[in-house]
Amino acid sequence: VSKMEQPPRPTTFDFHGVCMTEIVTGNWDNVQDFKARPDDVLIVTYPKAGTTWVSYILDLLYFGTVDPDRQTSIPINKRVPFLEMAKRTLPTGTETLNQLTTTPRLIKSHLPVQFVPKSFWEQRCKIVYVARNAKDCAVSYFHFGRMNKSQPDPGDWNSYLEKYMEGQVIYGSWFDHVINWWDKKQTCSNIHYMSYEDLSQDLGREVDRLCAFLGLSPSAEEKENLKAAVKFDNMKENKMVNYSTVPSMDQKVSPFMRKGKVADWKNHFTVSQNEKFDEVYKQKMKNCTLKICSEI
Ligand code: A3P
Repeated sequence: VSKMEQPPRPTTFDFHGVCMTEIVTGNWDNVQDFKARPDDVLIVTYPKAGTTWVSYILDLLYFGTVDPDRQTSIPINKRVPFLEMAKRTLPTGTETLNQLTTTPRLIKSHLPVQFVPKSFWEQRCKIVYVARNAKDCAVSYFHFGRMNKSQPDPGDWNSYLEKYMEGQVIYGSWFDHVINWWDKKQTCSNIHYMSYEDLSQDLGREVDRLCAFLGLSPSAEEKENLKAAVKFDNMKENKMVNYSTVPSMDQKVSPFMRKGKVADWKNHFTVSQNEKFDEVYKQKMKNCTLKICSEI
């Protein structure tokens, strides 16, 4: 298709107090009425917090040994369908999930906690929440917006960062997302709250914690295979997990598997951007006990 025929970048709007876009809200009634099954596992993150990394870890834990073909033939976004996805050109997330016959279903979502369909709570499904430090999420989300035409145009870095601090990006404020999920976790034993930074620091320990939460006991060999497969460099080369199969993404602009580092924000934030961000951070997080990264 010529440039003229390409669909325009999506716009955002306020949706029940959260900045959203049609690709997320366009199937809303079906998302809210979604029938979770007791053995469903829901993976929730604020965008760019390591969703794909943790999705792949869970997929290998559940299916790596029982169905090795799955890893070489089905892209990760089909193995772990995106609950609220409402693209008109593709089956919606709920349609895909309703047709899945493999169990358990691994389900990806970025929904703020107040929007999670109630059946997940009624069925007491296991939920894995992944948080990543606010500054690295901002940098990663900015580059994702540049390369992915189904995201709004991020503009230049400085104006993007302003929008991000105000929560005017898809899925709203990073602060609201991680804080509200953290609060929910305090009363919900079916939520496992983990961080990208902890995963980077000690993958083996975090996989063990995940297994304890999920009630899984992989062999030592399975764990070694998993740890090798989910290394950044290996995921970057793996076409089934690096999103090279998704046409809306121009990986020449910025690869989906971009850097995979903790504190890459230091290469993007100016001193004054950082001071301003720290002020906002202190204010927003003042009543929250969550500590994700010591560098903020
Ligand atoms: P960067 O843009 O900072 O490199 P999501 O899957 O939630 O969209 O998150 C994408 C981010 O996770 C990207 O961050 C990507 O590089 C990083 N990532 C994906 N797999 C990873 C891995 N195995 N190790 C470290 N980071 C990984």
